[in-house]
Amino acid sequence: MRHRFLAVPAVLLSHDLAVVARLADRVLVMRDGVVLENGGTATLLSAPDHPYTKELLTAVPSAATRGRRLAEVGHIRPAEPVGEPVIEARGLRKRYGKQTVVADVDLTVRRGEIVGLVGESGSGKTSVAQLLFGLVAPTSGTVTFEGAPWSGVPERRRRSRRRRLQLISQDPLSSFDPRWTVRRIVAEALPRGVPVEPLLDRVGLGPDVLDRHPRQLSGGQRQRVAIARALAPRPILIICDEPVSALDVSVQAQVLDLLADIRATDGTALLFISHDLGVVHHLADRVLVMKDGAVVESGPVDEVFHQPSHDYTRALLDAVPTLETPVGRNR
Ligand SMILES: Nc1ncnc2c1ncn2[C@@H]1O[C@H](COP(=O)(O)OP(=O)(O)OP(=O)(O)O)[C@@H](O)[C@H]1O
Ligand SMILES: [Mg+2]
Repeated sequence: MRHRFLAVPAVLLSHDLAVVARLADRVLVMRDGVVLENGGTATLLSAPDHPYTKELLTAVPSAATRGRRLAEVGHIRPAEPVGEPVIEARGLRKRYGKQTVVADVDLTVRRGEIVGLVGESGSGKTSVAQLLFGLVAPTSGTVTFEGAPWSGVPERRRRSRRRRLQLISQDPLSSFDPRWTVRRIVAEALPRGVPVEPLLDRVGLGPDVLDRHPRQLSGGQRQRVAIARALAPRPILIICDEPVSALDVSVQAQVLDLLADIRATDGTALLFISHDLGVVHHLADRVLVMKDGAVVESGPVDEVFHQPSHDYTRALLDAVPTLETPVGRNR
């Protein structure tokens, strides 16, 4: 069974401690239907009484456990079998006029792996996503997808491989045909005859959105339609560009759970782009830190987030709320 943290009064059900820590004033820890412990979020997460809570804090990979506590207990992450490279970028460079927005980026995502890409606004994250996906051509450098050339290949010759690679765009409205209904947007990505409703349900959308057009949806609903559409062809890799930043915290937790589940059950690899380091720490195996178009640091999330070697990474991390500061109040 899944063990969950219950936050009141918003009644958020989550195993994501980072999300709970940010949102909740109080936390109830439940196991097998029984409340074991109940207290203020900061106290409970930093100094739990019940052995089970301690166990959970040790086992749950989460930004809420970052910092002092984590240094004591260590960070246990389920060992994921990581396979052959799915996508590989070598010396990737993109110039617009005089500005170099992507500078010699090397990046590999392996089968079943979740790689985070973080960096401040304008650092080049979306540009990397567009280069990898093949929306724009690199000025120099190469992208290899599933062992075969991807960049520099004409689109008509990439078409048969396209479904294996999906993009959840930072701006989903621009990636939908405005005349299409949600039903058609999702159905078009599914094998013929596979119903749309269960997939929408999986991303937390009801049948009421089926006949609406993208403009008739909220930002969060649009984001979830984009996720459903990306999942539909069962891709080997999903490039997720800020897939949860438009979502409220409870839906965000739900979508992050969903993405983690998809990796666990289908072995789908994710390139997860976010400015939220807590979310990346929670979800990713490895992380790349971008600044001014270049990757300044990369490695396993625990190494990069606990012992950042670059000042820029340290500065990014300092902007993240921890249990030492009053959580959920400093944003
Ligand atoms: N088509 C384009 N033409 C000219 N400049 C561009 C183009 N696309 C992006 N840029 C520039 O490239 C730089 C990187 O932009 P990018 O969208 O990749 O940043 P980002 O890291 O995704 O930022 P954010 O966190 O705000 O989404 C910015 O300075 C941007 O203005
Ligand atoms: Mg962006």
